[in-house]
Amino acid sequence: MALEILTEKPEDGVIAVYDSGLGGLSILRELERLLPDERLLYFADNIHMPYGPRPLDEVRGFALLIADHLLHLPAKAVVVACNTASAAALHALREAYPNGLFVGMEPAVKPAAAESRSGRVGVLATQATFQGELFESVVERFAQDVVVVPQPCPGLAEFIENHPPDHPVLDAMVEKFVQPLIRDGVDMLVLGCTHYALVKETIQRIAGPDVTVVDPSPAVARRTRAVLEEAKLLRERGPGEVVVTASGETERFSENASVHLGRAVKAKAAPVLWIT
Ligand code: DGL
Repeated sequence: MALEILTEKPEDGVIAVYDSGLGGLSILRELERLLPDERLLYFADNIHMPYGPRPLDEVRGFALLIADHLLHLPAKAVVVACNTASAAALHALREAYPNGLFVGMEPAVKPAAAESRSGRVGVLATQATFQGELFESVVERFAQDVVVVPQPCPGLAEFIENHPPDHPVLDAMVEKFVQPLIRDGVDMLVLGCTHYALVKETIQRIAGPDVTVVDPSPAVARRTRAVLEEAKLLRERGPGEVVVTASGETERFSENASVHLGRAVKAKAAPVLWIT
């Protein structure tokens, strides 16, 4: 599939999946399973990775430029498969492109709050995600009856980006962030960053069997399908296709992406839209 996709039929546009790096592959995997006839284009803005420590307005700037590029491919839908970019930019994206279809991420506090027995829900996310109004509004809307314990995880997304999931240091990294929540009595652990979903098994093992790890990836894929179905933009006939692009380094990115997708992936260079 060429990157400049010219298509007459709106349903033949790609579903673009965007993250700062590898994390959104946790969503891409689910979309591939659920929508095998679709053309999926993955955009990793890894030249700017990590987003987590950046100010929200900077991340918003990246997201607006990237969405402009993706919508011109054309993308019939853009899945912002990044909690940080969703917190920073979802609102601005919908305002800037009122005809675009955007699916975003928000920490899955709602199902976690509904299922918690201890009444304490832990959320793992980047620093920036907790700063956004989105997190505040999620807690306000869905967590009136529980205590939500936010746990920023500086460095964790970057570590996952740059190392294989069986790296010996990962356990210690995860323990540092998860243990305080367990001591605090949480029984639900929400993965509020798509990178963390890539190492969900490690997080579950360290949290222990009494804690439920909430991974929103399958729900986000189902939501994407519903949005496209409603807009009558589902592609009825394949073949489906997946193209992976990255704004920065592609070699190591491809190696790590192959591990997470379970097959060989060769990322293409995406246009560099904005270098700070
Ligand atoms: N994967 C991104 C998220 O869901 C952020 C990782 C980063 O800090 O770049 O928040």
